[in-house]
Order: sequence, then C-alpha cells, then structure tokens
Amino acid sequence: MEILHTVAELRQWSREKRGEGNEIGLVPTMGSLHAGHASLIRAAHASCGAVAVSIFVNPTQFGPNEDYERYPRSLEADCNLAEAEGATVVFAPAVEELYPAGAATFVEVEGLSERLDGASRPGHFRGVATVVAKLMIATEADRGFFGQKDAAQVAVLRRMVTDLRLPTKIVVCPIVREADGMALSSRNMYLSAAERAQALTLSRTIRQVEKLAAAGKREANALIEAAWQSFAAEPAIRVDYIELVNWETLEPVESAAPGSLFAVAAWVGATRLIDNAILA
Ligand code: PAJ
Repeated sequence: MEILHTVAELRQWSREKRGEGNEIGLVPTMGSLHAGHASLIRAAHASCGAVAVSIFVNPTQFGPNEDYERYPRSLEADCNLAEAEGATVVFAPAVEELYPAGAATFVEVEGLSERLDGASRPGHFRGVATVVAKLMIATEADRGFFGQKDAAQVAVLRRMVTDLRLPTKIVVCPIVREADGMALSSRNMYLSAAERAQALTLSRTIRQVEKLAAAGKREANALIEAAWQSFAAEPAIRVDYIELVNWETLEPVESAAPGSLFAVAAWVGATRLIDNAILA
C-alpha cells in the first residue's frame, strides 16, 4: 500500500486506477483509526476496486478552544490498519498541502451547518465541508464512505454533494459499538475509567429512546423528556443537546417518522461525545 502526501499524487493515482477500470472509493478520516473506521474501509473495499483512505486532522473544523493540538495522531498504526482492511492508498497530506498559504476559499452549507453540533461548534461544519470537498474533487471518487455516528455531518455533506453537483455518491455505514453499547470514537481515549462508565449514559439513552419509539411513543416531547430523565441519573454529565430532527434538513420534528434522527451530545468531563439513532 502506498502513502501519498500531495493532491497532485492523489489525483494522478485516482486517474490511473480509473483508467485500469476501477471504481474509486474515498474514506475520509482524521486518523487514530478504530473498528468504526475499519468498517468504512471494508465497505469501500467491498464495492470499489481502488480505495483511498485520507488521514488528516483538519484544523479548520476545530474551534479555538477545542482539541486540535492534542487530537491523537498515530500514522504508522493507522497505515497498518488501513492496509489490512483493504485500502489501496493512504493520503496523508501536510496542512499546507490542503490549505496553501493564504487559503481563502471555504465551502459553507448554509442553515444545516448551524444545527445540532454546528450550533455548539460554530464553523465546525464549514471546515468539514471544505476539506471533504477538496478530497472529493481531488479523487473524483465514485463513492465516499461515512459513518452514521456523525449523522449531522452526513446531512451537511449530502446537501453539499447535491448543491455542488459532485460525482461522489455518499454511502452511510452503521455505528460500530463496543460490546457494552458505547459508540467507538477516537475521543474515547480521553476518558478516565470513571468517565468511561459515565459515558455509557449516551448509548443507554439512545437505546431506551429507540425502544420507546418502537413501542409506539412517537411524540418528540415525550422522547426528548425520557432522554433528559435518563441523563438526570448521571449528574456528572452535562447535556449539550437532545433533539429529534428530520435527517435531511436537521430541523426539529414534532413526532418521529421512519428515518427521523434522534441525536444527543454531552460533555463527560472535558470530552464532548455524540450518539444517535435513526428511528425505524
Ligand atoms: P473521524 O472522526 O476520524 O471519522 C471518520 C469517519 O469515521 C466518519 O465518517 C465517522 O462518522 C466514521 N466513524 C467514526 N466513529 C464511527 C463508529 N463508531 N462507527 C462507524 N463509523 C464511525 O468525521 C471525521 O473524522 C471528519 O469530520 C472528516 C469527515 C474526516 C473530515 O475531516
């Protein structure tokens, strides 16, 4: 497996692979790869003859007081995992490669970017949309693989791909969880043992809401209230948001319909975690 560092190399790789008759799969990541990322790489490998995994801690999607500097970085282990799961190349650019000196061009998905995580992380989705657009343009990927774990990100990127008429089809893969239900996240490694136990409240709450909805409780107020009560049992956690929204627009809905997104974000100590379910 090759490791590429420049956009020109990535573009050339993609054109060569396409010339050989392959479809191109793109798996954008910030590295520190775990089984959630691995599932995306496997899905890409299963449907595309050539798979590029990008590993880039994207500075523009971090706020000034967020964890950009201390975000975990482990390129060598990441490359080993990517190769084992079927990546054809890893793209690991320097910051100046994706943001040349004086870079002033950004992709802003209006409206959607201010909802859910965008409300508490101003500018976050602008950074995400900008970097993913750069990767999609460089690779002209047939398919881009994203996790439902970041469900609001998926909504923003779907809108972007539609609006920019990008040729990349977005494929969404299910949330990979630990045996106890906790959604895998690179940020879980920030948690102390006590916080790890508290953090289970997120997945427990999501599961409970899924059960209520499956049993016929559809009103947003009732589902949201049940979730608040579930969090109240763990006072060490500070809820950021609990919302039931239309997954396409991220606008709140009054009652759960098939495909509605129930999403939570909460602070466990200094670590912000998210989880969600698409209601059946
Ligand atoms: P990162 O957090 O590294 O996640 C990369 C991809 O892995 C995302 O699509 C995310 O939804 C998916 N993922 C993370 N945890 C998962 C889990 N437990 N189960 C399934 N998929 C999971 O998301 C980003 O990076 C960045 O915003 C990025 C899109 C790379 C742009 O910088």
